[in-house]
Amino acid sequence: MTFIIAIDGPAASGKGTLARRLAEHFNLPHLDTGLTYRAVGHALMQVGLPLDDEELAAEVAANLDLGALDKTVLSAHDIGEAASKVAVMSKVRAVLVEAQRKFAASGSGAVLDGRDIATVVCPNADIKLFVTASTSVRAHRRFDEIVNKGGVADMGEISADIQRRDERDSARADSPLRQAPDAHLIDTSKMDIETAFRTALALVEQAKAAK
Ligand code: C5P
Repeated sequence: MTFIIAIDGPAASGKGTLARRLAEHFNLPHLDTGLTYRAVGHALMQVGLPLDDEELAAEVAANLDLGALDKTVLSAHDIGEAASKVAVMSKVRAVLVEAQRKFAASGSGAVLDGRDIATVVCPNADIKLFVTASTSVRAHRRFDEIVNKGGVADMGEISADIQRRDERDSARADSPLRQAPDAHLIDTSKMDIETAFRTALALVEQAKAAK
């Protein structure tokens, strides 16, 4: 019996932490699909190539090794911006979605988080969660994350970056950020991570019991 947990939501909503915690709890493999788009943006940036060449970006995507995604490097705030630029390209999405589906189908289940997991990558997931939080809460979280790692951050800039990325991710034609009609909404604006985790866990347990 396979069990797929699909988690979507905007930048810094807490979906990644929830996905990791759920994967640990249920001993399932976890794929942060944002890292796949980040890896494409990062690879292009590193060699000084443009972020608006669809053929080139799709070629980079096709050569990506999902097992070698370096979260420490790829999590950098500015790589998120590059990722959202290559993520509007259908050819890039087609390649990455195929790899993500392979990951989801490779074992007895998986946890995937991103923007289009419940709507496109795994529309038949056993449980779908849409994790969100207000823009200001998300900007504060991203700010704290950067500062806690010893970095320097500007609250106004971060807030603007998050809004721009939300706008690009929601407005694109191919697989925009949307809550699937059958996804459960978890608004973490007023929740600490433990409360968010317990809320998500209860929903997943319910879906497991019903299967
Ligand atoms: O989740 P994260 O912030 O790492 O994602 C970086 C960018 O990758 C997002 O802003 C979005 O443009 C893109 N992305 C996507 N589809 C996914 C995951 C991420 O378009 N499933």
